[in-house]
Formats: sequence, structure tokens, C-alpha cells
Amino acid sequence: MNWGMKNRISRIIKPKTGRCVMLAVDHGYFQGPTTGLSDLGKTVEPLLPYADALMITRGAIRNWIDPAVDIPIILRVSGGQSILKELSNEIITTNIDDAIRINASAITCSVYVGGEYEKETIDNLSKLVDEGEKYGIPVLAVTAVGKEMARDARYLGLASRICVEIGAHMIKTYYTEDFGKVVEACGNVPVVIAGGKKLPEMEALQMAYNAVSDGAVGVDMGRNIFQSDSPVGMIQAVRAIVHEGKSADEAYEIYEQSK
Ligand code: 5RP
Repeated sequence: MNWGMKNRISRIIKPKTGRCVMLAVDHGYFQGPTTGLSDLGKTVEPLLPYADALMITRGAIRNWIDPAVDIPIILRVSGGQSILKELSNEIITTNIDDAIRINASAITCSVYVGGEYEKETIDNLSKLVDEGEKYGIPVLAVTAVGKEMARDARYLGLASRICVEIGAHMIKTYYTEDFGKVVEACGNVPVVIAGGKKLPEMEALQMAYNAVSDGAVGVDMGRNIFQSDSPVGMIQAVRAIVHEGKSADEAYEIYEQSK
């Protein structure tokens, strides 16, 4: 791995703990207006001091985020589908020149293993890895799950391992029972979990705790943070689990006290 690649990864995965809290706000790229993100800038601003990186599209960053902000950007460079159509029909929407202009610390696309356009999404990832390797920009592969796919360790392990083999530098997947097997399938490639649909706060915190206990380096969470009744309390609580090794109960206290 070249110096620039290592440096960008260590801006995201903090060397002090080897962990990270990514804040995902890229949902609009296929689902349009998302609860909590209509004024994306207002939602994100109080959360930034507690996030290690921000996952976002180029349109959202240019419209809602102050360029003076001090946060590594994980740039969502794929899209082309919507919730009205086949989700796996994804293309690369942002070229590497624009990612560099935005000063992205990483680029990201989704891979739909088992989806109708499986091969095309793997091709998207392989092209991003080629570009990323050329410029020292790491690629975060998201193992997206289509409607019909089981979210078990066997499926997520399969999808994650394929992304590793294609050359992804970080993997974002879902938490599941036997999650340790998913992490194991990724070898030395760091794994983070998505939060998924909004859960009661305690359940989301327990999931974050279980994921890091099973070997994830952290989370790339969206709705379970910005759709909480206390988004700042929730990101502080998640941070305490990820970086300070707090239990879900201790973290819940942090969330409760913030209200
Ligand atoms: C969609 C994504 C989103 O960033 C993602 O799902 C993260 O957020 P959440 O925690 O709300 O699931 O990658 O493919």
C-alpha cells in the first residue's frame, strides 16, 4: 500500500484506537428525500465533531457542507438507480477527477452479490480500485443487500470476501449472527457495519457493541444516528462504544443524559 493510501486510511480509521465512526448521509442517492436529511447541512453540522468521516455524495457535499469543514470525506461515487427500480442496476456516477477535486479521503460504491446486475456492480468496484490504486485513494465497498437476499453470515461473508478479492480497501456490511465469520472472511481488510433501518436506541447500541466485539473496526451509521430523538447523544454513545470500549448499557446512559 502506498503512502497516500495509508495516510488517507489513517485519517478515517484513527491510529490511536484502530477504530472509526463514519457518519453516513448518502441515502438520497437512490431513495430521494430521507427523513432527517431534508436540510442535510443542519442535520450534519452538530454531529461532525463526533464523526471520524462523512459518507456523502458530491451533490450533497456541494449543496450542504462548508468546504472549510475538517472531516475526511468518503465520497459515494455510484448511483443511477432508484427505489422504484432494480436496486442493483448501479453505475459509477462520479469520476476520479471530481473525487480528487473534492479532496475525498476514500471513494465508495455498492456491490450487489446475487443481484440482477451482480457482474456490473463488481465491475464498478474493480474500476474504482484501479483508479484508487493509481491515486492513493482507498475504496470502501458496500455489500448492498437486495430485497430477496438473506442477511446471514454465509451471504454477507460471501459478498464481503468477493469485494476483498476484487481489491476493496475497506468493507461496509451488515451485522448478523456469527458476524465474526464475516470479519474472518475479510482477512486484514477492515470491516465496518451499516446501521440499517432505525432501531430503538438500545438495540442499535447493542448492535454496534456486538460488531466491534466480533472484530469490526467500527460503524458507518446513518439513520440510527440522525433519526434518533437525540442525534448528538446517539453519536456520542456510539463513539464511546467504538473508541472507548464502553458497554451498550454505559453508552445508553450517555444517550439518555443528552436528552
Ligand atoms: C446505502 C448506504 C448507506 O450509507 C447506508 O445504508 C448507511 O446508513 P444506515 O446506517 O442508515 O443504513 O451505504 O447503500
